[in-house]
Amino acid sequence: LSRRAADYARIPLKIKTDRKEVKAIAEEIRARLAGGSEALTVKLKARSYPIYFQKDGPRALPGLLERHAPASQVVLISNPTVFRLHGRRFQKELEKKFTVHKILIPDGERYKNLKTLAGLYDRLARAKVDRKTPILALGGGVIGDVVGFAAASFLRGVPLVQIPTTLVAQVDSSIGGKTGIDLPQGKNLVGAFHQPRFVLIDEAFLPTLPPRQLRCGLAEVIKYAAIFDAALFHRLEKEMAAILKNSGRGLLPIVRRCCEWKARVVEKDEFDALDIRALLNFGHTLGHAIETLTRYRKYTHGEAVAMGMVFAARKSVARAGLKSRAVERLTALIAAAGLPTDPPAFSKRAWLAALARDKKRVSSLVHFVYLKRIGKAAVIPTPLEKILE
Ligand SMILES: NC(=O)c1ccc[n+]([C@@H]2O[C@H](COP(=O)([O-])OP(=O)(O)OC[C@H]3O[C@@H](n4cnc5c(N)ncnc54)[C@H](O)[C@@H]3O)[C@@H](O)[C@H]2O)c1
Ligand SMILES: [Zn+2]
Repeated sequence: LSRRAADYARIPLKIKTDRKEVKAIAEEIRARLAGGSEALTVKLKARSYPIYFQKDGPRALPGLLERHAPASQVVLISNPTVFRLHGRRFQKELEKKFTVHKILIPDGERYKNLKTLAGLYDRLARAKVDRKTPILALGGGVIGDVVGFAAASFLRGVPLVQIPTTLVAQVDSSIGGKTGIDLPQGKNLVGAFHQPRFVLIDEAFLPTLPPRQLRCGLAEVIKYAAIFDAALFHRLEKEMAAILKNSGRGLLPIVRRCCEWKARVVEKDEFDALDIRALLNFGHTLGHAIETLTRYRKYTHGEAVAMGMVFAARKSVARAGLKSRAVERLTALIAAAGLPTDPPAFSKRAWLAALARDKKRVSSLVHFVYLKRIGKAAVIPTPLEKILE
C-alpha cells in the first residue's frame, strides 16, 4: 500500500521485512481508510476488531457491516429514548441495504434482567436470526450489556456490533467484550465475554445526553487520565469548563484517547485474570459500596466512582507515596466536572458490609487500586479493615 495511504491514515511508516507484519499494516491502513477517520484496532488475534470514530455514523454503518459482518438481514436493538433521538436515521440507512428487524426494550438499568433477555431470545428466534445475522446494540451501557449477552448466547454466539450512545458506553462498556445482566441478588452476576465485530462511535450522540449522564461519563474519563495519562489529565484540567459548556461537542479526540487506553488494557488482560484490567477499578471499590449503601438511587455510577477516586487518592498518600498536591489536583478536577468529592456518612459496620459484598474480591484482601502519581496506578492487595482505617 502506498505511502500516501499511510500518510492519510497517519501511520508511521517503518521498514518491515516480515510479510505477515506488512500484511497486518496493510489491513490496518485499509480499516482506517474505510472508517473515514482513523480507526483504532483492539488487537486480540482472531478476535481483533476496529473501533471507528465517525461524524456521520448512520451513513457509514451499512458499508462497515458489509465489510465486517456480511449478511442480508440485521437486527437493530435500542430503547425508545435513544431510538427517538438517533435510531430512526440508522434504521433508514440500514433499510437501503438490509432487511432490518427493529427491537426496542424499555429504558433503564432495571430492565437489564432475565425477563428482557428472554424477550430478546423470543424475538430473535421469530426473526429467524442465523449465525451470520449481526445484532446491533444501539444505546448506552445497559443496551450494550444485555444485547451483548443475547448475542453471546443466542445460537452460541452471533456477530455483535456495538454502537455506544453514552459517554460511559463509548469510553468503557462497548470495548472489551464484557456483557451481562443483573439478578435480583446483585448487578452483573450473569454474563459472558463476547467481543464485537466492530464498535462505531458517533460524535453526534453526546450533545443529546442529559448533563448528568455526560458528567457520569466524565468520571470514567478522569479515571483513565489519573491512572494512565498525565498529559490527558492536564488537558482535562484546562478544558473541563469548555467540555461542559459545549455539552460534549468536540470531545471525540478525548474519547478516542480513553478508548486507546481501554483497548491496550483489554489486549493485555482480555479475561480480567491478571491485575491489569483491575487497574480500571480505580475509585470503584468505594464507588460500588456507595452504590450499594444508597441502593443505586441517590448517585449515578460516575458520581459514586468520583467520590471513590478521591477516597482512593487520599489513601494513596500514605500507602503509595502520592503527593498531596496530586490529591488536590484530582479533587479539583472532579469538582470542576460537577461531580461530588466527599462520600456520604455511614457507620463503619455498614461500610464493611458493603465492601465485603464486592464480587471481585478473591479473598479477605481487596485488590485496591492506589495512585502513585498522576498517570500511574498500582494494585495492592489490602485487608478490608485497613481500607477503612
Ligand atoms: N460491559 C462493561 O464493560 C461495562 C462497563 C461499564 C458499565 N457497564 C454497564 O453499563 C451500564 C451503564 O451504562 P450507561 O451509563 O450508558 O447507562 P444507560 O445505558 O442506562 O444510559 C443512561 C441513560 O441515557 C439515555 N441515553 C443513551 N444515549 C443517549 C443519547 N445519546 N442521548 C440522550 N439520552 C441517551 C439512556 O436511554 C438512559 O436513559 C450499567 O449497567 C453498567 O453495569 C458495563
Ligand atoms: Zn465504572
